[in-house]
Amino acid sequence: MLTNEKIKEMIGELTLDEKISMIHGAAFFETAGVPRLGIPPLVFSDGPMGVRLEFKKDSWEKKNLSDDYITYLPCNSALAATFNRELAYETGSVLGEEARGRGKDVILGPGVNIKRSPLCGRNFEYFSEDPYLTKELAVEYVKGVQQWDVAACVKHFLANNQETDRLAVDTIVDEEVLREIYMPAFYDVLKRGNCYSLMGSYNRINGKFGSQHTHYLNEVVRDEWEYDGLIVSDWGAVHDSVEAAESGLDVEMSVTADYDDYFMAEPLKKLIMEGKVSEELIDKKIEHILILMNRLNMLDGERRSGTYNTEEHRKAALKVAEESVVLLKNDKNILPLDKKLKKLLVIGENADKLHALGGGSAELKALYEISPLMGIKKLLGGNTKVEYAKGYSEDIFRGDEEDKWQERSLDLNVERVGSSEEADRRMKELREQLRNEALELAKEYENIIFVGGYDHVPGHDSEGDDKADIKLPYDQDILIKELLKIRPDMPIVLTGGSDVDMREWIDDAHALLWGWYGGMEGGTAIAKALFGDVNPSGRLPETFYHDISECGAHAIGQYGTVGRVEYHDGIYVGYRYTDKFGVTPQFPFGYGLSYTTFELSGGQLDTEADAYICTVKNTGSRAGKVSVLVYMKGKQDEPEKVLAGFDKIYLEPGEVKDVAVCITDGMIGGREYFAYI
Ligand code: BGC
Repeated sequence: MLTNEKIKEMIGELTLDEKISMIHGAAFFETAGVPRLGIPPLVFSDGPMGVRLEFKKDSWEKKNLSDDYITYLPCNSALAATFNRELAYETGSVLGEEARGRGKDVILGPGVNIKRSPLCGRNFEYFSEDPYLTKELAVEYVKGVQQWDVAACVKHFLANNQETDRLAVDTIVDEEVLREIYMPAFYDVLKRGNCYSLMGSYNRINGKFGSQHTHYLNEVVRDEWEYDGLIVSDWGAVHDSVEAAESGLDVEMSVTADYDDYFMAEPLKKLIMEGKVSEELIDKKIEHILILMNRLNMLDGERRSGTYNTEEHRKAALKVAEESVVLLKNDKNILPLDKKLKKLLVIGENADKLHALGGGSAELKALYEISPLMGIKKLLGGNTKVEYAKGYSEDIFRGDEEDKWQERSLDLNVERVGSSEEADRRMKELREQLRNEALELAKEYENIIFVGGYDHVPGHDSEGDDKADIKLPYDQDILIKELLKIRPDMPIVLTGGSDVDMREWIDDAHALLWGWYGGMEGGTAIAKALFGDVNPSGRLPETFYHDISECGAHAIGQYGTVGRVEYHDGIYVGYRYTDKFGVTPQFPFGYGLSYTTFELSGGQLDTEADAYICTVKNTGSRAGKVSVLVYMKGKQDEPEKVLAGFDKIYLEPGEVKDVAVCITDGMIGGREYFAYI
């Protein structure tokens, strides 16, 4: 490790040109180094579910070599559903080791933006609607990453909760609300997680752009939080050379190859030479870059090397996926299913669909991805005849006049068929045909499983767009309703990054499993949960509403508006809103069933141990894990309750355990607490 004096000395030796070259992109995911002083370039890569595939240096064209396949980890929403800090650490560790193994310095994750509405296209990249759950898991994730001499980069600071107009929208939100809901995860990740870097957001916050915000980056992050790590812009989020120079930002990254024209390149150099911007501001940025490099042992000492695609990594991905599956309904104990089936029909495009290579910057080249269909087949083996029917399809027909940008960039497989009316007609026909085929086949089977949900097609779980509503896409509701008439005991598996409206069929359905984007072993985990090799222990890290009108952002705030979005919902996000306003959602935050039953007893605060002590008994006949959630009751003008602690324990049938759920953060004392399992 170099001393601070040595770092200062190095800054003194740099020319203005060299300094300028270090504070902006010199490739899409790289800055320039200064070889004569032994300063290497800084190499970034996207996360958060794995290390992103390689692009050519100066374009968005993929390299398409065979060396960038990687371990595909469950998305952050899935991780949050585990309510398991150890798994968050393990996830981070896999990512960090793979990032180092791929020669990266900074991994662009985790995303800790709060899930303010189920419509947000990037919800799958984020953890939860709850600041406490988000920060507890993100801190562990970051520690896991950084032990590999790779920096995590917590993003997107601040109030980046929608994709609509994401590059410019002005988020109007009170500072107290930011401090209570939207900032705590960033604060804890930087402070407690010692996260080496932070990414600013695209959006404006109360008038100014996030990536060059002189109040939030300087007064809050740098001065108040005393942060000396690296602050990088989101890609293309800088808009002004002077503001960028004066803000706490260190490195400007963007999406075009005209690097010298970046705001923090030649235009900034000119301003410095004209005496309009002080060079000292640039020195501070260089200092932060060198501090980061020093922390990663890039300048001196021995740096860890990492590797990727190991068996341990795949096992970790499976473990997380298994604990993330949430059992939402299981009337008459329909699940788990018997493995000794003669024949089984699996219906639904998501049973067979691979998701890794989609979603925007979170896209990955997974070494492999086990679909639910493959998971089921490999679990049951050759003695069960498993038949598959697609049942519905994503939109594959497009009108000639429709925008071609996305299909080019996302390699979408679409057929151009003339007008958009013609495309709609063809799609309707195809869906009817697929539905009828599935319904005909269903009549021949006693055992059917439906697998549907969202995908990463733009407008669903994908960067750059929000969802228009939370209806299941591609007429899945019609298909599910018809199938339930034929087989009322059909288990339904849904995968996606957040809530869907289930009202059309939920009362008729008996068994429902929620599977997120579970990474490369997601399909294995779903199959194991369906057939009882895994006892589901996931909990919803967010409220599942019947409809968005039950969500505070829509009921009393604004969401998805262009130009300006006002957060009138204040702190009433997620369950804070439904509790306060007496709304009973479809499934509440923290909900999740098991194949066994647990009983909670006792329950008292131990102020000396800073813990809530209670006793849990497994009263059923299967072993299982259970999360104990401890809430603090609010006073009159506060939310009814807020999550203040959680722990996950494993219990054999009949076993009884005392649990001490740690309550941190000054949340202890002077309040009432209660536990929920
Ligand atoms: C996204 C970031 C991402 C960056 C680099 C941006 O468009 O908002 O999350 O890390 O691109 O790919």
